[in-house]
Amino acid sequence: MSLVFGADYYPEHWPEERWPKDAELMSRAGFNTVRLAEFAWSKIEPREDEYDFEWLDKAIGLLGGKGIRTILGTPTAAPPPWIVKAHPDVLRLDGYGRRAAEGTRKNYCPNNPHYIEHSKRIVEKMALHYRDNRSVIGWQIDNEFGCHASELCYCEDCVKAFREWLKRKHQSLEKLNKACGLIFWGQEYGSWDEICPPRPPFSMQSPSLNLEWRRFSSDSWVRYQQTQVDIIRKHAPHQLVTHNFMGLYKELDYFKLAEPLDLVSFDYYPMWSRDANLAASAMAHDVMRSLKKKPYWTMELQSGAVRTERAPIPRPGEIRLWTIQSVARGADGTIYFRWRSCRFGCEEYWHGILDHDGVPRRRYSEVKKVSEELRKIAPHVAGTSVEAEVAIALDYDNIWAMDLEVDYADKNYYGINSWQPTLDCYTALYSRNIPADFVNPSTENMGKYKAVFAPSMMLLNDRVERNLKAYVKKGGVLVATPRTGAKDWNNIIVNEPLPGRLADLFGITIEEYTGLPGDRKVEIKTVKAELGREGRHACKNWAEKLLPGEATAAARYQIGLYSGKPAVTMNRFGNGTAIYIGTFADPAFYSALADWLTKKHKIETVLPYAAGLEATERSGSDGHIVFALNFDEDALEIACDGKIYQDLLTGKKAAGTLKIEGLDLRILKVLD
Ligand code: GLA
Ligand code: GLA
Repeated sequence: MSLVFGADYYPEHWPEERWPKDAELMSRAGFNTVRLAEFAWSKIEPREDEYDFEWLDKAIGLLGGKGIRTILGTPTAAPPPWIVKAHPDVLRLDGYGRRAAEGTRKNYCPNNPHYIEHSKRIVEKMALHYRDNRSVIGWQIDNEFGCHASELCYCEDCVKAFREWLKRKHQSLEKLNKACGLIFWGQEYGSWDEICPPRPPFSMQSPSLNLEWRRFSSDSWVRYQQTQVDIIRKHAPHQLVTHNFMGLYKELDYFKLAEPLDLVSFDYYPMWSRDANLAASAMAHDVMRSLKKKPYWTMELQSGAVRTERAPIPRPGEIRLWTIQSVARGADGTIYFRWRSCRFGCEEYWHGILDHDGVPRRRYSEVKKVSEELRKIAPHVAGTSVEAEVAIALDYDNIWAMDLEVDYADKNYYGINSWQPTLDCYTALYSRNIPADFVNPSTENMGKYKAVFAPSMMLLNDRVERNLKAYVKKGGVLVATPRTGAKDWNNIIVNEPLPGRLADLFGITIEEYTGLPGDRKVEIKTVKAELGREGRHACKNWAEKLLPGEATAAARYQIGLYSGKPAVTMNRFGNGTAIYIGTFADPAFYSALADWLTKKHKIETVLPYAAGLEATERSGSDGHIVFALNFDEDALEIACDGKIYQDLLTGKKAAGTLKIEGLDLRILKVLD
């Protein structure tokens, strides 16, 4: 087995005379795969129904001659100017009725019939042209659905399709009006053509209709993707199909988007904005792996500065760390963005492996070095996967519902990003080197996990309720955070004491709750008999006063309105335990909880805790491989707990204390 390794290459940006040199440099760096053509529609079809594949055939052939295979992007992320000229309505409309600009990418509507027809045609032409080309191994559909905030379109085609979508789902206006609570402010619909999608400011319209709009919009992109998947499956069933996801992007239902694909691939810019946090970066990988519970690829991995002011140039060793991190978290492929920094266009400062002048320098050398290392470890990694004993429930409807709970200023009621409850749980596991999967609570059986975190599952339906209860009944440990069970699947608050249909599972009711503005100080204290230690923790944003029925208190409020009352409870339910956390506690609280879980429920950590260390493991029939990464500039040391390893990079045995230099890593096969 060889791991997929290469770069996103845009031969159309460079004179043809340069291509052989690029192919030679790539081959010397150990590349076996490139992604081509994903924004090249105007070059492939310069005028309607006139095609030019010659340049692309040549590039694919040249690279193929060096043993480098191609993933083709379907080029639909960037409509050529002639389509926009012929059909200006392909351009999206925003919530204020403004049309997206022409002359760029991601500006089209997924429900526009002209765009769908043109997309189908170019994809079919390409599939027919390349299905027998042995260098072409697969397809990336479009590029980053939702990128540049393109997830919502308010054009007439979308409005019509939204009405149809609602009709199919709700059957009658009476049912729709009720499901969305439209009697509030007298907005019940009397005919289907009165229905309009909620527009900004979103807080002024029905949160339930709003959630339907989000679901519909996500479905629209899933459907648009499917039109392309179908064509490739029909003409080129032997070639793989993927799409490049955006990690913790949350506006589309990634489980649904991943479903029809052979594999998930993912664009990873660790130094770019929200992904700058180490735990969040790792979480993005784990979400990507979990969407299909199988190996994924990194389709774009940062290999230079991404714009200079926001993301500095990677330090020596960082590209290597990110590459090995991908493999460590379950990826079987790494493709760098991009081969060479482009001299023109609005990404002139999105640097690649080579600089604008095409001269290979230290980033090229680092990529070359890591490819040699990947070749060394590939036989050991073959057939292995990340095995987790802990899972975190992930549900996009719930994320949207929390995002839609906004006041008149469109500020979230809880003062948090809707990823935060998930990130709180994940960070504790991450810092303890406990591998975690993400699971879809509507569809996946969670029985194989020793513990499952279900962060703020505010919306519940029968399936999720049954799934969570069955899991605990059979012996699982479930951890829930504020607002769990507060609403039904229509985004309407339940008509019973909270946490609604899960009151029996958690053995509590919630007597009262409050938001916590900055001047409301709240602290909780854990109960030693339950959580194994007594510690005080600051809480933020939200506090629920829990009234235990069967449950016992595992932490109590110390300071604040609910002082003395339970803040965290534990309940035996069937053979398992259900823990309810009624506030957003500090990271140390979640770490204490993770420590308690590892001790009490014998959950394994890959390596002991060390500051700056990220440790993961891939396992297979041939044993376990530990990846220990040091993202700090300072060296770190870890006690091996009596284990003996073989260092797969040096071939030497390792035991006792492991030292890892700053921005360095170890890849270790467990011997004993
Ligand atoms: C105003 C309005 C009410 C209600 C309240 C909410 O007073 O008249 O309908 O919206 O604000 O605070
Ligand atoms: C995204 C896109 C790429 C490029 C990079 C730049 O990931 O898919 O085309 O724009 O961002 O960072």
